[in-house]
Amino acid sequence: MVNFFKPAAKKNNLHQTVTIDIQRLDINGDGVSRLNKKPLFVNGALPDETVAVKIIEEKSKYLRAKVLNVITPSSQRVTPQCKHFYQCGGCDLQHLSEAGQLQFKQAKVAELFARNANLTELPWTDTLATDPWYYRRKARIGVQYNKLNEAIVGFRRKNSNVLTQVSHCVILAEQFAQEFTAFTNIINSLKTKKAISHIEVIAADIATVIFRHIRPLTKHDTQLLENFCKNKTYQLVLQDESSVRLLNGEPSPLLSYQIAGCNIQFSETDFVQINAKLNEQMVEQACQWLQLEKTDNVLDLFCGLGNFSLPIAKQVNSVVGVEGIDSMVARATNNSLHNNLNNSQFFQADLNSEDTSWPWFNNDINKIILDPARAGALQVVTKIIEFNVPTVLYISCDPATMSRDAKVLIDHGYKLEKLALMDMFAQTRHVETMALFKLI
Ligand SMILES: C[S@@+](CC[C@H](N)C(=O)[O-])C[C@H]1O[C@@H](n2cnc3c(N)ncnc32)[C@H](O)[C@@H]1O
Repeated sequence: MVNFFKPAAKKNNLHQTVTIDIQRLDINGDGVSRLNKKPLFVNGALPDETVAVKIIEEKSKYLRAKVLNVITPSSQRVTPQCKHFYQCGGCDLQHLSEAGQLQFKQAKVAELFARNANLTELPWTDTLATDPWYYRRKARIGVQYNKLNEAIVGFRRKNSNVLTQVSHCVILAEQFAQEFTAFTNIINSLKTKKAISHIEVIAADIATVIFRHIRPLTKHDTQLLENFCKNKTYQLVLQDESSVRLLNGEPSPLLSYQIAGCNIQFSETDFVQINAKLNEQMVEQACQWLQLEKTDNVLDLFCGLGNFSLPIAKQVNSVVGVEGIDSMVARATNNSLHNNLNNSQFFQADLNSEDTSWPWFNNDINKIILDPARAGALQVVTKIIEFNVPTVLYISCDPATMSRDAKVLIDHGYKLEKLALMDMFAQTRHVETMALFKLI
């Protein structure tokens, strides 16, 4: 076989400044144009805009550019509410109107379902949405130190591991939205300040701030932290490798939230849906779409703390919840007990494992709800088609894997009956979707 020499594609666009028209948004929310026959992706540019850009990356197949100046703005362009928006990597879409954000998210799901599941007509229902500001009840806040050993407290810059100092975050629960400067000041006052590696904030029944530390804190520093939170509306908790404890050394209490008349207890390290109000709507809609009946036996996969399992258990014959993390299985079990739901059971399993000899997956199950992480649930859908479970409700934070898994279901006789966008992560490009499949 003859190997022909292929010269490397010429790279002659880098650092150029050009004026271009943006045609559409790609699935990451970047504006898309073309330059010298290559696709050009422009972070921060919107469809129908004319923008002056500088090429900042050139590959053989594509270019990336940054906006220098918006010459003709889109009618959907709005002024970002957050003053850190252009530096902070926490939000991607504050420059796009709320309606525009939802259109973008719907188009992204539609594109992925067309590409991965060959579905071009989608049975959209109304989007679930809540106040798109100050909605985030849990967040991890970074702490780094500059050359002068001063703390920087905030979120990563766009495309970088370096933090940007934040003073006010407009998507974080109001209780914490303006606490960044206070956090920075108290860390800077500590003798062992460089021991603090990050902060976690949680708005729950007991509002909680966790200082994660990688070395022991001195007594003096613990005293400073005690004084710091005397007038605060939250408790301060310290976490190191081995424990999560209050400043007096006692174990920190479990936190909790209410959902559909159930009380869900959790610890600081457990997964909780980050948008409390949207979560309420989502659980309500899940119960409606499943058309729950007293005779139903429901399997809740990737069940976490029982966020769906417990509200469902109130309406059906039985619920089995399955989750990968042992401590969350134990928590879900306790949650069912303290909510007096004796028709639910919880098991631990790796639901992405090739070994699907799962004893709790049996012919009694007539409805399934699954809410996987970004990896999706290919093994689970394989099992669903083996058992021909009539009703499947799939909740997803990644439409790419959801549409991939949808194809497996559709190829085996399932119909996509309903699809809804849920604006769990407003101002960001992240998409949450609910899909109802029925075996026909
Ligand atoms: C998106 S969360 C949903 C949790 C729960 N349904 C809720 O609404 O709070 C995904 C859950 O799946 C669990 N998980 C992730 N990968 C898993 C796996 N391979 N096997 C079992 N559970 C897994 C996570 O620990 C997490 O609790």
